[in-house]
Amino acid sequence: MRRIAIINQKGGVGKTTTAVNLGAGLCLLGEKMLLIDMDPQAHLTYSVGVKAHELTKTLYHVLKRDASISDTIIERPIDVYLPFVKHSKISSSFHILPSSLDLSGADLEFGGIAGREFLLKEMLDGISDFDYVFIDCPPSLGLLTLNALTAVDEVYIPLQTEFLALQGISKLLETIEIVRKRLNHNIKLTGIIGTRFDARKRLNREVVDRIKEYFGDRFFRTLIRENISLAEAPGFGKTIYEYKPDSYGSRDYFALSKDVSKRNKKTL
Ligand SMILES: Nc1ncnc2c1ncn2[C@@H]1O[C@H](COP(=O)(O)OP(=O)(O)O)[C@@H](O)[C@H]1O
Ligand SMILES: [Mg+2]
Repeated sequence: MRRIAIINQKGGVGKTTTAVNLGAGLCLLGEKMLLIDMDPQAHLTYSVGVKAHELTKTLYHVLKRDASISDTIIERPIDVYLPFVKHSKISSSFHILPSSLDLSGADLEFGGIAGREFLLKEMLDGISDFDYVFIDCPPSLGLLTLNALTAVDEVYIPLQTEFLALQGISKLLETIEIVRKRLNHNIKLTGIIGTRFDARKRLNREVVDRIKEYFGDRFFRTLIRENISLAEAPGFGKTIYEYKPDSYGSRDYFALSKDVSKRNKKTL
């Protein structure tokens, strides 16, 4: 089971869009996928069409030990026709562990508990039915993000390919390093994903060159282009493959899904 946290304390860089569409892409490639929504705003949950405010059990109840992970996970069917792949009609499903607004008080509510950084890890250690677990992190480096970082072996960072993309990154890398030393020796930054790329802008190309220089092979060569369909799909509760299967967004995230499934973390 590969466990990967998708993290960047900056908001709006494409964490949730990546969790949903890279997750769904791997699912369409035949991988058993669990998406964990760690953000109290529950964007991931709503993005795939699950109404967080109507749920009686969410990640909050799991962390509180009021519900088990397996009772809280929701199965989300996905049926698509992808015009650019050979066996283009695919029916499958992925799973989500939904979030809810209750989680917004997590820092205060769980802050005083011994082992507060391991609440998610302990629950995740009890399941093994998936090939991949993605954790969509909130835009902060608080207790919820720490819980994500102790529960995974790998970290992916989406970077918006624009001016200031690397600003704040040293703080994030420092946090990962502290977690590696004190809480989780296994954690490794294994992927950098360039998002919202616009090839017409020279600045975007320059930023990509800088990210490449800085991160080397960890930077995925497949770039996610700026694409309006990616911004529209969540409003319909759909992944990009369901909403606009022939869009750039669909093609880019599917290509990235193949990159991820090919990448062997041991080689990094
Ligand atoms: N490649 C893209 N092209 C166009 N819009 C995008 C793209 N990626 C993300 N967006 C939009 O940008 C906003 C922020 O993306 P999101 O994935 O929610 O970021 P984060 O989770 O990091 O805050 C959302 O409205 C999303 O739909
Ligand atoms: Mg988000």
